[in-house]
Amino acid sequence: MKKIIKMEKRIKLSNNGPEFSRIVSGFWKLGAGNAELNYQQREELVEKAIDYGITTFDHADIYGNYSNEAEFGEVLKHKPFLRQKMEIVTKCGIRMMSHKKPEHFVPSYDTSKQHILNSVENSLRNLNTDYIDLLLIHRPSPLMNPHEIAEAFLQLKQTGKVKFFGVSNFTPSQFEMLNSFTELVTNQVEISLLKRDFFLNGTLDQCITKGFAPMAWSPLGGGSFFKETNDSNILKTKELAQHLSQKYNAKLDHLLIAFLLKHPANIIPVLGSSKPERLKIGMEAIDIELTTMDWFALWQAAGGLVP
Ligand SMILES: NC(=O)c1ccc[n+]([C@@H]2O[C@H](COP(=O)([O-])OP(=O)(O)OC[C@H]3O[C@@H](n4cnc5c(N)ncnc54)[C@H](OP(=O)(O)O)[C@@H]3O)[C@@H](O)[C@H]2O)c1
Repeated sequence: MKKIIKMEKRIKLSNNGPEFSRIVSGFWKLGAGNAELNYQQREELVEKAIDYGITTFDHADIYGNYSNEAEFGEVLKHKPFLRQKMEIVTKCGIRMMSHKKPEHFVPSYDTSKQHILNSVENSLRNLNTDYIDLLLIHRPSPLMNPHEIAEAFLQLKQTGKVKFFGVSNFTPSQFEMLNSFTELVTNQVEISLLKRDFFLNGTLDQCITKGFAPMAWSPLGGGSFFKETNDSNILKTKELAQHLSQKYNAKLDHLLIAFLLKHPANIIPVLGSSKPERLKIGMEAIDIELTTMDWFALWQAAGGLVP
């Protein structure tokens, strides 16, 4: 692997924010309806991730039809000592339609103080933990009231139930609004070679201006690069990656992650793999320094300057 600058394996999200691993493991697709990992596989994934240096785990109340947090919590129930070795991120604010929530007769958002407080209580119970390291408002609601959200965050901070707060899928102006009421340490947005609009729409500029690191969800395009496809941008990217693989002694996954890590906003990729060996690739990618020309070659192959 071509090593030029050794990137740190951990990162502070902001001046006053938490320290996370440079690569995060996301639990969205690991439960019901997706990878459906059994208990042993979940425990192995968590333990191996920590061994590789991936200590931060990303959740949401709704993942796996409201069941993934509890499946992760089972691991902490059996091995409570793992809690001190990890940071837990979870989210709230979406009311998803589910047979478990018959009262949700339409998909909606709820960022009221009571909903946030209730959601955190559920998450703490499900995850088998006394505290959450970082709570995110999952999506911006058109009805969100920043006064109420800030009140909920203050109460959660004062009771020690949540250490830090952030948002997900917020525009820069939505971030600015809420951040003026309560300190936010990140904005988790979809960024990958296939989803390049955040490079140009002010979202990453804001991260640099404000001094916080963004988290990137679906950093491998949700796995689209690894499936059969006729998408010419994916095919061109894969062809280029084959050539770059030799130069950097790296696989396609390494290159897709290294592409994000090169950005000066300190993007933190949230990998969604259910396979420990694929999470390891994420940590290996932090040692790859793409040249600027190769970075733009990937950008161009994936669709060019217009995102
Ligand atoms: N804030 C939000 O609104 C939001 C939205 C979506 C997701 N997220 C977070 O972001 C995380 C990651 O999202 P994602 O799962 O879409 O991310 P991703 O890392 O882009 O994609 C993961 C998918 O790619 C597959 N994959 C990875 N490497 C592969 C390889 N070498 N060959 C074949 N398949 C490969 C994985 O399958 P295997 O399991 O088989 O490896 C998995 O299905 C989620 O878990 C969640 O925590 C947040």
